Amino acid sequence: MAKTRRIGILTAGGDSPGLNAAIRGLGKAAIGQYGMEVIGFRDGFRGLIEDRSVPLHRRLSGILTVGGTVLGTSRDKPHRMLVDGQTVDMTGAVIATYEKHQLHALVCLGGGGTAKNALRLVKAGLNVITLPKTIDNDVVQTDTAFGFATALDIATEAIDRLHSTAHSHHRIIVVEIMGHRAGWLTLGAGLAGGADVILIPEIPYSVQSVADAIGRRVRAGSTFSIVAVAEGARSPEDAEAFRQAEARKRNASTKEEIAAAVAEIAGVEAAHANNTLRLAAQLEALTGLESRVTILGHVQRGGIPSAADRLLATRLGSAGADLIDSGVFGVMVAARGESTEPVALDQVAGRRKLVPVDHPWILAARHVRTSLGD
Ligand code: F6P
Repeated sequence: MAKTRRIGILTAGGDSPGLNAAIRGLGKAAIGQYGMEVIGFRDGFRGLIEDRSVPLHRRLSGILTVGGTVLGTSRDKPHRMLVDGQTVDMTGAVIATYEKHQLHALVCLGGGGTAKNALRLVKAGLNVITLPKTIDNDVVQTDTAFGFATALDIATEAIDRLHSTAHSHHRIIVVEIMGHRAGWLTLGAGLAGGADVILIPEIPYSVQSVADAIGRRVRAGSTFSIVAVAEGARSPEDAEAFRQAEARKRNASTKEEIAAAVAEIAGVEAAHANNTLRLAAQLEALTGLESRVTILGHVQRGGIPSAADRLLATRLGSAGADLIDSGVFGVMVAARGESTEPVALDQVAGRRKLVPVDHPWILAARHVRTSLGD
């Protein structure tokens, strides 16, 4: 009799609504459709390295609508784990756990960084696939990733609610939305919520241009404005400093050069801290309108996943089980239209899907006269 195939699942990176729906989708399909065994590893790659596993066959019911991840998550990378204050390559420990449990395959739920870690494990000889998750919507080669739709709903509802209070007090409300590198969430929620100004990392902004847009609204009779700003939105000068620091990190070859580039990026990030508060104060000074700040923060990642995310996560999870059954490894399961497709991990790993400056959402924003601060 053929041996039962056992697969492992872990969730890595920041949590996203829909992770549990994906665990359930993959687990139920693997067990129900293909007769596999499924175990989970706790807290991302750390749980795999420390061999903290949990059988999942009795834990897949009742988690479809639950937020976060029942497995826990972490941002640990197997090849650069912090152990007793030292950075250590723990790839060997990953392989040891994989072999100990006689895994047929490992499924990693995460974004571009997780795909990079997964690819390293593929190169080390393991059967690995990934499913795309992120509220930032910045995973390449897939239409979208689970988590984004829910975060979009949450951020849009927040903008809706901010409208009535901004309107009542004749204020500017600057609402900060997640996304250090990619502006999809701010752009999507800003469009859906009718923000008057949308500032994203891909389009450097000038405070004067934002103030001018608000001034035009005042002259047209609107005494309030909503400014949706992404965490990573910057002035052209700050954007250039950040770009240069990142390029130095990419091109660094020695340990010393890498450390210097990392320190430089940290310095640029530190200078950017409280940017949203600064922006609100600058707008108040330039327009004479009272301003307030709302930072949505982790609320955007919390709570029950939307129907769209549950559907996407279930489709991707079930397709992941199909690929494992067919022996297709080293891929991410991508959403393509109504279908799914395997995409080689080296096409995804470490890459980031940014908003093209001529994207239809950008054009729509400009056509409805939303200021993008440029
Ligand atoms: O990567 C997803 C994300 O939610 C980003 O949008 C955000 O900038 C970051 O994670 C926050 O990270 P943390 O959960 O570590 O605070």
